[in-house]
Amino acid sequence: SQSKILIKGGTVVNAHHLEVADVYVEDGIIVTVKPDIHVGDDVSVLDATGKFVMPGGIDPHVHLAMEFMGTESIDNFFSGQAAALAGGTTMHIDFVIPVNGSLIAGFEAYEKKSRNSCMDYGFHMAVTKWDEIVSKEMEILVQEKGINSFKFFLAYKGSFMISDELLLQGFKKCKSLGALPMVHAENGDAVDEGQKRMIELGITGPEGHALSRPPVLEGEATARAIRLASFINTPLYVVHVMSIDAMEEVAKAQKSGQRVIGEAVVSGLVLDDSWLWNPDFSIAAKFVMSPPIRASGHDKALQAALSRGVLQLVGTDHCTFNSTQKAFGIDDFRKIPNGVNGIEERMHLVWDTMVESGQISVTDYVRVTSTESARIFNIYPKKGAILAGSDADIIILNPNASFEISAKSHHSRTDTNVYEGKRVKGKVEVTIAGGRIVWQNDELKVVPGSGKYTEMPPFGYLFDGIDKADANYLSSLRAPVKRFKSTA
Ligand code: URP
Ligand code: ZN
Ligand code: ZN
Ligand code: ZN
Repeated sequence: SQSKILIKGGTVVNAHHLEVADVYVEDGIIVTVKPDIHVGDDVSVLDATGKFVMPGGIDPHVHLAMEFMGTESIDNFFSGQAAALAGGTTMHIDFVIPVNGSLIAGFEAYEKKSRNSCMDYGFHMAVTKWDEIVSKEMEILVQEKGINSFKFFLAYKGSFMISDELLLQGFKKCKSLGALPMVHAENGDAVDEGQKRMIELGITGPEGHALSRPPVLEGEATARAIRLASFINTPLYVVHVMSIDAMEEVAKAQKSGQRVIGEAVVSGLVLDDSWLWNPDFSIAAKFVMSPPIRASGHDKALQAALSRGVLQLVGTDHCTFNSTQKAFGIDDFRKIPNGVNGIEERMHLVWDTMVESGQISVTDYVRVTSTESARIFNIYPKKGAILAGSDADIIILNPNASFEISAKSHHSRTDTNVYEGKRVKGKVEVTIAGGRIVWQNDELKVVPGSGKYTEMPPFGYLFDGIDKADANYLSSLRAPVKRFKSTA
């Protein structure tokens, strides 16, 4: 039966340790990890000799069935998760979008959207306006609904964008709840100006997307968010760091001791913006995402930042639109729905780009693709580890196999792939999710409804000692100066 599985003879990798061992799984939980386990006939045995046995990937940045730019991203919770499982990712964290400004209504809408889930998932919550109701809803979400992170958009003027005033209120509220604030860091007012500039110049194609929102606008917003987080003394998570400009702000803050997490996304690590100049609109449009994929050079610098630990983890920002949806912007790049695929490709591309090339170790691979997500969002070691008692979310990766990425063979519902034709070394041959073998011999066996909502408790490790820093700050303020009335 599939409820008892023994993985034999593989190299078991955790974020800080690797050893040759067997892994025994029963009823969705890892029971034992040690060499030479013996079992009865009722156990499915998988031979992992010469292969790596690792925690399933956790993608911290995904938008399934997201209503955005007049349409909805085409991978829903079932198709996006099936694609994820085929690529070795066994959990994702999706961004709930409020409904008419209500966070709770948004949460309820996402509860419905996610009913057919075939793998475990959690939620971040986007905050797009501010008042007493929103503030109260944040409390309810943290204390009763398992949400411990809130995303603020400094871009998308006219829809999601919020002011610095709201950002400060949001930071304060997050901190008081032990929830992590996240920012999409681009200066939305300046992007609006940049877009008008491009249209005036007659640059209406996809290259106008990159030209209208250059790295300087990402650097500015990143620096601003980081400084305001310092002023509030809250930890901060910068999503999709796409440029050297933003990465250097993150590095500088970390060096000064500030708790800032920098998230890499696969597209930023492995692509460059030359695609946006492709004369075929349908090719160029598929690379439109925000912040934009940058000029060659940024990709390599972001890889180096990941290996140095300035960027701590890798997500995807998977948000897929098919060719028909992308064509909404055929005459105006501002109408091309923003987003690229990646949930199925992330584990392979990080392995190929970072491990195969010698830029990170196998244990670091586990850290950046799985363990660090679990630690930051406070679900470690239930997730992100191969330890007795952890959830049985496990992959077996063959470092000697290779294959070619293509829309013809991928499992996402979208009809294109931004990594089309790329050959990668290293292949996830088996995925186990919740103790079930869901991917084996290039075949998916997923069960709709088997994925569980994973509650993420507040006050993760980034909050350790924050109170002490506040106390130090308060005691560092001088006593109020005693003034006397001037008699002159
Ligand atoms: O282009 C993108 N990134 N689409 C998804 C929304 C966001 O900003 O993350
Ligand atoms: Zn033996
Ligand atoms: Zn974003
Ligand atoms: Zn996103």
